[in-house]
Amino acid sequence: MNIALASDHAGFELKNGVIAYLAERGITHKDFGCSPGERVDYVDYAEKAINEMIQGNFDRAILICGTGLGMAIVANKHKGIRATPCYDEYMAEMSRSHNNSNCLTLGGRVLPLDEAIHIVSIWLDTDFDKGRHQRRIEKILKLEERNFKSQRI
Ligand code: RB5
Repeated sequence: MNIALASDHAGFELKNGVIAYLAERGITHKDFGCSPGERVDYVDYAEKAINEMIQGNFDRAILICGTGLGMAIVANKHKGIRATPCYDEYMAEMSRSHNNSNCLTLGGRVLPLDEAIHIVSIWLDTDFDKGRHQRRIEKILKLEERNFKSQRI
């Protein structure tokens, strides 16, 4: 698995902790910013990582802002992206097993590092359940076909 990461200033510190965890597990990843000390707009950094992902260069993304909400809003404007803000273990598990999440968003101002790492580990290690959930994902894909006419994926 190959993971694209990005944060704004509010997610920067938590992103470093997540990067250290991915490195420890030997998971391939790349950080698309922001850099230390910058104050930036989360929109621009979500786009950097998600554009790489929709070009096929990464399997999944982890995006971190203050709450995880802005990053999810931006990521979900892109065809094929299922971005899920997760605040606890149950959400992390469901986001994968039911929603086939391919983009985890976290909040640096609402989650301590140890909880965030636990969420990341569950999100990485939980498989999509398929079955009835696959039918729902296919409905989302059809909806995207209708609403995102211009974007290729
Ligand atoms: C930045 O102050 C904050 O608004 C941003 O990180 C994020 O929480 C937006 O959703």
